[in-house]
Amino acid sequence: MKTILVTGGTGYIGSHTVLELLDNNYNVVIVDNFSNSSPIVKNALEKLAGRKIILYNIDICDKKALEQIFKKHSFSGIINFSSYKAVGESVALPLKYYNNNMKGILTLLEVMENYKVFNLVFSSSATVYAEDNEMPLVENDKLSTDNPYARTKLMTEEILQDVADADCKWRFIALRYFNPLGAHKSGEIGESPNGIPNNLAPFITQVAIGKIKQLSVFGADYNTPDGTAIRDYVHVNDLATGHKLALDLLLNTDAAVSFETINLGSGKGYSVLEVISEFEKVIERKIPYHITARRTGDMEQSLADITKAAQLLDWRPRYQLSDMCEDSWRWQTRHPDGYKQ
Ligand code: WQD
Repeated sequence: MKTILVTGGTGYIGSHTVLELLDNNYNVVIVDNFSNSSPIVKNALEKLAGRKIILYNIDICDKKALEQIFKKHSFSGIINFSSYKAVGESVALPLKYYNNNMKGILTLLEVMENYKVFNLVFSSSATVYAEDNEMPLVENDKLSTDNPYARTKLMTEEILQDVADADCKWRFIALRYFNPLGAHKSGEIGESPNGIPNNLAPFITQVAIGKIKQLSVFGADYNTPDGTAIRDYVHVNDLATGHKLALDLLLNTDAAVSFETINLGSGKGYSVLEVISEFEKVIERKIPYHITARRTGDMEQSLADITKAAQLLDWRPRYQLSDMCEDSWRWQTRHPDGYKQ
């Protein structure tokens, strides 16, 4: 059984991916500093997987600590989720983001090289795409970033490309997520934002359970059918499967891989009002909202072309927006305070 290191494995997408790996005959070791998650996720994962999970509470920027783990385990590959990911916070605290996100990946790559582990799946983001591309977005479209968070994703992709160009032993896949949504069907793991949510879905569900009074819809004057911005929502379980398939490809030595970027989205766009309406169907009541000004930096629409994911990974999204809303709602009602005790 191959052992995979998952950094940030107790986070939202990381935890769902850990479950997917365990369900598909991989051994998993998690490292996490719990800066944006909780140790109780491990208990939930062990309950769902029906087996113990090895987890180390370390920061991947701590080279000595990371080396201890590479000394103890022989990894076939790595999936790296460890990174700060709040766009707004990255604008306010750029040094925090550059230091954590860039030092983290550089330390990880250095230790990987020292221990001869050359397969890495990297958690990237659709925010690396320039705003003036035609929709849907294709992997070789123009790239441009306008905030430190997105810049750390793009810079990391460029680093991986350079490292792969310099030595063919490296095998990298960068998965560009569009808008992750939903939760594991059990309702036992899900998105648990610290403080006031940034993203739309947790905001909606927290309004629905009465934790937050009203949803602000950021702008209704876009050039879209109902005036609100359009996004490509993809179920977190579909994302988890995408990571497993990317890892399978890297570990298949017959497959020639150096550095590939792959979109993971549903290929379907929904407006903010359409998402609200889908949630209202699931929770069977109205979501109170008011229209406010656009949020700085928001794009009018973002839509994934997922042809490459189908061709390279044989990956296709299985879940619809209704599934994402149902699964998000189940998680929210079972865990009104997320992972906070
Ligand atoms: C979705 C839509 C908002 C909240 C972000 C990051 C991106 C990625 C995914 C990490 C937009 C609108 C939202 C609210 C609203 N994260 N909205 N009221 O901005 O598309 O992408 O999350 O990789 O990097 O940028 O997601 O969920 O914040 O917003 O009207 O209270 O909902 O304007 O149109 P976004 P989001």
